[in-house]
Amino acid sequence: MNQRIEERNQRTKWYQESRFGMFIHWGLYAIPARGEWVRSVERIPVEEYDKLQHEFSAEEYDPKKWAKLAKQAGMKYAVLTAKHHDGFCLFDSQYTDFKSTNTPCGRDLVAEFLEAFRAEGIKVGLYFSIIDWHHPDFPHYGDKQHPMRDNEEFKGKEHNFDNYLTYMHAQARELLTNYGKLDVMWFDFSYNDMQGEKWRATEFMQMVRELQPHIITDNRLEGSGEESGSILTANPTIYAGDFASPEQMIPPKGIVNELGDPVPWEACVTLNNNWGYAAEDKHYKSAKMIVHMLVDCVSKNGNLLLNVGPDAKGRIPEESVVILEEVGKWMSENANSIYGCGMAEFEKPEWGRYTQNGKKLYAHVFEEQTGAVCLSNLANQIDKMRFLKDGSEIRSAEYWNLKEYPDHAFFFLNSKTADSYPLPEEKDTVVEITLK
Ligand code: GLC
Repeated sequence: MNQRIEERNQRTKWYQESRFGMFIHWGLYAIPARGEWVRSVERIPVEEYDKLQHEFSAEEYDPKKWAKLAKQAGMKYAVLTAKHHDGFCLFDSQYTDFKSTNTPCGRDLVAEFLEAFRAEGIKVGLYFSIIDWHHPDFPHYGDKQHPMRDNEEFKGKEHNFDNYLTYMHAQARELLTNYGKLDVMWFDFSYNDMQGEKWRATEFMQMVRELQPHIITDNRLEGSGEESGSILTANPTIYAGDFASPEQMIPPKGIVNELGDPVPWEACVTLNNNWGYAAEDKHYKSAKMIVHMLVDCVSKNGNLLLNVGPDAKGRIPEESVVILEEVGKWMSENANSIYGCGMAEFEKPEWGRYTQNGKKLYAHVFEEQTGAVCLSNLANQIDKMRFLKDGSEIRSAEYWNLKEYPDHAFFFLNSKTADSYPLPEEKDTVVEITLK
């Protein structure tokens, strides 16, 4: 097997066991509260946007609280935006004054985040935008998404892109040097000709590997949510990344490379429809939907990186807190069907999903069935079945209306009735099947 793929598989073992992480998008854009792209979408001039830093107080920022919520939700890793496309640094960078330590909050928000999440035993990662709309040497006019992309004042303006790259690499070096052991670096994102060596990505990744050899990275030095890049090939580049990063969707069948071998991946998804805080966006996904998404990812050998967008004061929206607490309740009773699990050796069932970990096959029943739950082609392969939630026995169903289907196994959700029966756990009732 290609050495880079072999090393990737080794590096991502903990990650593929973890399955569930927290994404945190936070920064100045929480003040306008119209999402993290507000500067680009509304074409806000830099002088106007910069004023926001003078009111960024984050007075209720309590990363210990965030970490406890992530832990309770069953999240095993967390990734915070150290710098988003707007160029505002949540860390004390020596290369810019546009940073949290220069605002009324006066704090290195990244340092506090890392300390708090490590204290909860949660692996830590930083999102670092390779795009920087604040830097004078990043392309403005004619760029695909720069806030000044169609502002004639910037037409013909010279940008020393090499100078920008030196700045961008230096900031990444700061994060990889000054903040202890990091587990994930999440780079975002490549587009058009702005990909790969345009970022001096080989040199960049050599630095990453030299400073933090164990760290895993996403695939967006080369790709984006639109295209994964060479991570899907048999010969990935040095900057192909260790995991693919489908965005706001879950791949139909998981992700494999051109050889058909599984590629580590995580679906990154928002709880409402925005990554950064958007005060008016109240369309939150239900806890049930989140559980189904997480199970769906794991059933396809993937992870779910679920996003929260704290407000300008540093508070995770109450709606997000409630959902994560509910997901955590389900996880507290069913985590064995998630951690360390992946795609099953059996076809996806009609009533939900399978996840599997060795001889343990987990039947995730998402919806009430007409009578027995059918385990297709599992006849004579089952040693025992238990409700994962409480360990109670479930017996294979022998019943007159099932006799014509000897290749399959069946169970009833209730030992007393062969009729339809409500799911004991309405979000997802999990049956642990020990295979022979
Ligand atoms: C997209 C968004 C960006 C967000 C990222 C998270 O690239 O444009 O704002 O940080 O997705 O995956």
